[in-house]
Amino acid sequence: MMEIARLSRGDAPAYRALMLEAYEAHPDAFTSSPAERAALPLTWWESRLLALDSAPEAVLGAMDSTGLCGVVGLSFESREKTSHKATLFGMYVSPDHRQRGLGGDLVRAAIALARARPGVRVVQLSVTHGNLAAQGLYERFGFQVFGIEPLAVCVAGSFVQKVHMWLDLDSLPGDSA
Ligand SMILES: CC(C)(COP(=O)(O)OP(=O)(O)OC[C@H]1O[C@@H](n2cnc3c(N)ncnc32)[C@H](O)[C@@H]1OP(=O)(O)O)[C@@H](O)C(=O)NCCC(=O)NCCS
Repeated sequence: MMEIARLSRGDAPAYRALMLEAYEAHPDAFTSSPAERAALPLTWWESRLLALDSAPEAVLGAMDSTGLCGVVGLSFESREKTSHKATLFGMYVSPDHRQRGLGGDLVRAAIALARARPGVRVVQLSVTHGNLAAQGLYERFGFQVFGIEPLAVCVAGSFVQKVHMWLDLDSLPGDSA
């Protein structure tokens, strides 16, 4: 039985381990490299998981009896003029748990979390050009492409483009999250 819940400070070691696995296995999909993130102290990971309604970031995790299987993060803009925007980041489902709807469950939960945050209207994200599994997943939930960034990230000496997507939460039907 899989449960999706907001992670808290005590989940930081499992969250760190899963994300380091993600950066290692999918260098094209994530901007962070395993080495630079592995060097950060556990407190850095804990700071992403603060259990505050006004926390600048929140991470949702999918857990079963074996542990943490998937994650997605949301960061919230703090400046007044952009406080209507949130950014979805760090989406990952471990290989053994893919193709079963878990990625979709995480995106749905992230949208619900964004909608629950007062004042948030837009969720943005970026996905590496050619990552059709992830882009298709986001499109199924209504995300639309608004631009393609050339030379966005340099992975092992080669540049990849990033596809920028957005979702207007006000365009969603009342019960879709
Ligand atoms: C992208 C990613 C998160 C998707 O996770 P996932 O759990 O496989 O996602 P879902 O199962 O919801 O959807 C994936 C596919 O499974 C299908 N699916 C959903 N439920 C299913 C089920 N019960 N049985 C069979 N297939 C199912 C979906 O229709 C979808 O099909 P598609 O490949 O034709 O689009 C995962 O592949 C991943 O972690 N990739 C590496 C990291 C990455 O790219 N992250 C995104 C960075 S922007």
